Amino acid sequence: MAYRIGVVGGDGIGPEVVAEGLKAVNAAGVELDTVSYDLGGARYLRDETVLPDSVLEEWRGLDAIYVGAVGAPGVPPGVIERGLLLKMRFELDLYINLRPFKLDASDAGPGHDFVVIRENTEGTYAGEGGLLRKGTPHEVATQGSVNTRLGVERAVRFGFELAGTRNNHLTLAHKTNVLNFSGDLWQRAFNEVAEEYPNVETAYNHVDAACIYFVQDPQRYDVVVTDNLFGDILTDLGGAVSGGIGLAASANLNPDRTAPSMFEPVHGSAPDIAGENKANPIAAILSAAMMLEFLGADPAAPDADAVDAGARIRAACDACSDMTGSTTEIGDAVSSKL
Ligand code: NAI
Ligand code: MG
Repeated sequence: MAYRIGVVGGDGIGPEVVAEGLKAVNAAGVELDTVSYDLGGARYLRDETVLPDSVLEEWRGLDAIYVGAVGAPGVPPGVIERGLLLKMRFELDLYINLRPFKLDASDAGPGHDFVVIRENTEGTYAGEGGLLRKGTPHEVATQGSVNTRLGVERAVRFGFELAGTRNNHLTLAHKTNVLNFSGDLWQRAFNEVAEEYPNVETAYNHVDAACIYFVQDPQRYDVVVTDNLFGDILTDLGGAVSGGIGLAASANLNPDRTAPSMFEPVHGSAPDIAGENKANPIAAILSAAMMLEFLGADPAAPDADAVDAGARIRAACDACSDMTGSTTEIGDAVSSKL
C-alpha cells in the first residue's frame, strides 16, 4: 500500500527541491500517494491563509508531511514561522527535531558524523511572554523559556535511545552556568535518564563552547541533545561545517506516532536563487530518505523495503555530495544511481 504524504512545496526554491526529493523516492521504488497543499508566504500574500485547522485535521490522517521551504519577501516576520511551522510542530506534537551532520574525511580534515536532537515544542519558542506599554518609552518585552519535565525528559530519552543505536555517546549542550532554572531541570533529567542507559557515555558542553567544538573538533560528537533555541542555532552551524546548508536535512518527529511526522531541508526558500534551477536539492532528497526510514521503522507496520530505499537514497546522495550543477542535474544524478 502506498504511503499517503502531504506535500508542501512552499516558496522560492521549495517546490524545485521537493520535486527532486519525490523523484528520488520514485527511483528508489517506493510508491507514494501525494496530496499537495498550497501553503507558505505566497499563499499568505494572496489571501492571508496560513494553516487552516481543516488542513491540520486532514494531515492527521496522513502518513507524513514533506515540506520544501516556506517564507517570502513581504510577509511580516513571525507570520509563517509561528502560524505554520511552529503550529505544525506544536499541534502534531513533533517534539524531536533530528538533524544529522556528516562530512567525509579528506585532505582538509578527518571528517565527522553526528546528530543533533533539538527539542522542538518548548523553550523560548513556546510563545510565553508579551509586551507591556508597547510603543512607549517605558515598554517592556519578555520572552519566557518554557521547560517541562515531560518535554525535557522525552527529548533526553530519545537522545539516549538514538546514541544506543550509534556510538553510545550523548552530549548535553546547554548553558547551565547562567540559565540556572531551565539548565537545572535539563541537567537533572539528563543525569537521571542516564542511569537507565549505563552503556551510553555522557558529556556536557556549554552551548558557547559547543560552537567552538562544532568548528574545531566535531569528531568528539556522536549525538547531541539540546533545547529549541540552542538547537536552532547549533544546527545552522552544523550545516555550515558539514558541506553547507544545501546538504542539511531534518526530521520533525512525533516518535509516539500519534500524528504524522514532518520532513524538510534545514534551509529556507532562498529567494536570491529561486526560479534559477540553482538550488542544491540534496538536503531535500536526504529529508525524503529520513521520511522513508522513519515510516519503515514503525513497529506497528514495519517496512524493510522503505528502510532499505531510504538507506540507498542516502548512499546515492553521499556519492553526489561534491557535485556541482543545476538542481535538476544533481537530482537526476542521484536518481540515476537508484
Ligand atoms: P535561506 O536558507 O533561504 O538562504 C540562506 C542562504 O543560503 C542564501 O544565500 C541561499 O541562496 C542559500 N541557500 C539556501 N538553500 C540553498 C540550497 N538548497 N542550495 C544552495 N544555496 C542555498 O535563509 P534566509 O535567506 O534567511 O531565508 C529566506 C526565507 O526562507 C525567509 O522567508 C525565511 O523566513 C525562510 N526560511 C524558511 C525555513 C523553513 O521553511 N523551514 C527555514 C529558514 C528560513
Ligand atoms: Mg534555523
